[in-house]
Amino acid sequence: MPPASFTVLAHPLAGDLLTRLRDRETGPAEYRALARRLGLLLMTEATRDLATEPRKVDTPLEPFEGSRIAKTVVAIPVLRAGLGLLEAVTELFPDAVVGYLGMERDEHTHEPRDYYSKLPDLAGRKALVVDPMLATGGSGTAAVGYVKDAGADDITFVCVVASPEGLARLQADHPDVPIVAAALDRQLNEHAYIVPGLGDFGDRLYGTY
Ligand code: PRP
Ligand code: URA
Repeated sequence: MPPASFTVLAHPLAGDLLTRLRDRETGPAEYRALARRLGLLLMTEATRDLATEPRKVDTPLEPFEGSRIAKTVVAIPVLRAGLGLLEAVTELFPDAVVGYLGMERDEHTHEPRDYYSKLPDLAGRKALVVDPMLATGGSGTAAVGYVKDAGADDITFVCVVASPEGLARLQADHPDVPIVAAALDRQLNEHAYIVPGLGDFGDRLYGTY
C-alpha cells in the first residue's frame, strides 16, 4: 500500500510562526501563543477532507444550499507537548471530543514509554493525533497504534516538525494515515533530536529547561 499523503504547510504565515518557534530567544509565553496560532493552520489543513452534509438555509434574500460538518472531530494530543496544539482544535471545532495519550521518550534508548491513556469512542469519527515532533517516529507510531486499537478508522497525524527518519517510520507502519507538518527538517542528530529543529518542544512550551 503506498503511503497516504504527506503535506507540508506552504503558507508565509506558517513559515513566520515556525521560524519564531525555532528561535532560541523565544520564551514560553510567546512560544505557547505561537504554537496555538500555527496549530490553527495545521488543523485547518488536517481537516481539509472532513466529511460534510448538505444543509439548506434561507439567507435574508433567498434559499441557499450550503453544507455543515458531518463528522465529530476527536483531538488526541500526545502529552505533554501535544497540549500546545490542542486549543487550536477546540477553537476551530468547539464540539470536538478530546482524548489523551501520555508518552515520554527514554533519554538513552529514545524509545517511548506510555504512562497514560484516556480515549473516547472513536468509531465513525475523525481522529487527529497531535504530537509536535516526529523524530525517530517511535512515539508517533505507537500513538497511532493505540488510537487504531481503540477503534479509529479515520486518522490524521499532525506535527510541527518531522524528520525524514520519523516520516519514513510512520509511513511504513501506518501507510493509511495522512500526515500534516509545518516542516520536514534535514535529519536526526546523535541524540535523536531533529536538526535544525527547534529543540525540545515540551520543555520550551512549559519552560522546563
Ligand atoms: C517528544 C515529542 C514526541 C517525541 C518525539 O516528547 O513531543 O512525543 O518526543 O520523539 P520520537 O519521534 O523519537 O518518539 P517527549 O518524550 O520529549 O515528552 P514531552 O512531550 O513530555 O516533553
Ligand atoms: N522531541 C523534541 O521535543 N524535539 C526533538 O527534536 C526530538 C524529540
